[in-house]
Amino acid sequence: MIHTNYRGCKEWCDGGLPMSTTSDEATKMFDATLSQYVGFRDETSVGGMAKTMERMLSADPEFVMGRVIVNGLTVVGMGKSPRWDKQLRQSIDEMVRLAETRKITKRETKHVEAIKLLSDGYMYEATQVWEDILVDHPTDILALKQGQDAYYRLGKPVQMRDSIARVLPHWDASIPLYAYLPGFYAFGLCETDHWNEAEKSANKGIELIPTSSWATHVLAHVYEMQGRTQEGISHLSTTLDNWTDHSSAPLANHIFWHWAVFHIERGEYTAALDLFDSQVSECTVRQISVRDMAWLNSAGVTVGQERWEDVAEVCRPRLDEHTSVFNDCHLLMACLSAKKSSDVDHLIGSIKTYVMEVGTGTQHKLFETVGKAMTRSLVAYGEGRYSDAVRILNPHRYSIIDIGGSNAQRDVFKLFLINAAIRSNTPEHRRLARSLVIERKAYKPDSPMTDRLMERVMALHDN
Ligand SMILES: [Fe+2]
Repeated sequence: MIHTNYRGCKEWCDGGLPMSTTSDEATKMFDATLSQYVGFRDETSVGGMAKTMERMLSADPEFVMGRVIVNGLTVVGMGKSPRWDKQLRQSIDEMVRLAETRKITKRETKHVEAIKLLSDGYMYEATQVWEDILVDHPTDILALKQGQDAYYRLGKPVQMRDSIARVLPHWDASIPLYAYLPGFYAFGLCETDHWNEAEKSANKGIELIPTSSWATHVLAHVYEMQGRTQEGISHLSTTLDNWTDHSSAPLANHIFWHWAVFHIERGEYTAALDLFDSQVSECTVRQISVRDMAWLNSAGVTVGQERWEDVAEVCRPRLDEHTSVFNDCHLLMACLSAKKSSDVDHLIGSIKTYVMEVGTGTQHKLFETVGKAMTRSLVAYGEGRYSDAVRILNPHRYSIIDIGGSNAQRDVFKLFLINAAIRSNTPEHRRLARSLVIERKAYKPDSPMTDRLMERVMALHDN
């Protein structure tokens, strides 16, 4: 059942999570914000996410946990950084000032510390603070969900799974928002290749909340990982009304991507492109579609210059953001595919400046360890230097997980390396292409796309 009986000050206190405010309206709107965040929903009865947060802070402008959830969502949910967003910088400073001047609990102090670390670029360090909170407060679902989001972005699926496993025995159906936990756990299980357990947990999540777009989406991941494409398409088409409802909109575009991937696996490229054109059409979300299109491209689908140019246009204002290596690699793929050499040069130059200027933090380290190789390899491929693309990326392929995302999303880079190796004029690379496809077949035996790749690599001449 969707949680809408929002908790006032007393209820939060009774649940062992006291809030340092006297405003019932503020804590109720905090709960409403949390409920929408955890449920990937936009709850119209409270005016949607943005309006809820506005109501929360106007009820008590000095509500520290209100500042925590707003700032956390701005950094993780919207991908903003105080490095380039002055408003966010001021909001973080104000949160820290309030935490120092108002009487707040130890748990709330830790939440402030975590968001400060997160906004300064220390995402992994922030997860350690959230885990610390969860040891004493296992039902603090804000710490739990922020940890899930961070682990996803840090490419740490084992931590994502175990974080939920540790707190589950402390929960039961009487605790608000419990119904979302099986869906969270299912994702960690799926990303660590426990597919049968993941399927059970996702189904439990759907049973508890049939309109849970997250649990529905995780089940699509399970079908994808097991090559169960027809079941995947059937699952998404029969639940379409549940996850395309206005309140489920935050995840709908991504779920359509999963749907398109099922078609790509089956070689139904026109159906995949139709989904892209008809469903991922709003300009505001088009940057998300970069990864969808790059995926299509790497899977051998002709995306078309017009579509790429359209996406590159939306990417242009984001070239100096450097939210993550994951995002920058996708922006680069869009610029390269659209053949916008000035944008490519701009992005590469901007990444170099970012790495030199920022000097610390999770993403900075990632650019040094794997991001540099990935961007250099992508550029080499874009310039037709396929042998260089393979030579640069191949030694780093087991580190690509560090850039975050799901196994399904990162598959674009596995496909990229195979395609580069196929196109390389170096005989060793064509033999490498064969061994990579054999590896792919062993991991996911029932993938029609892998079978098509196998046919291609077996037909290659390697001398
Ligand atoms: Fe997904």
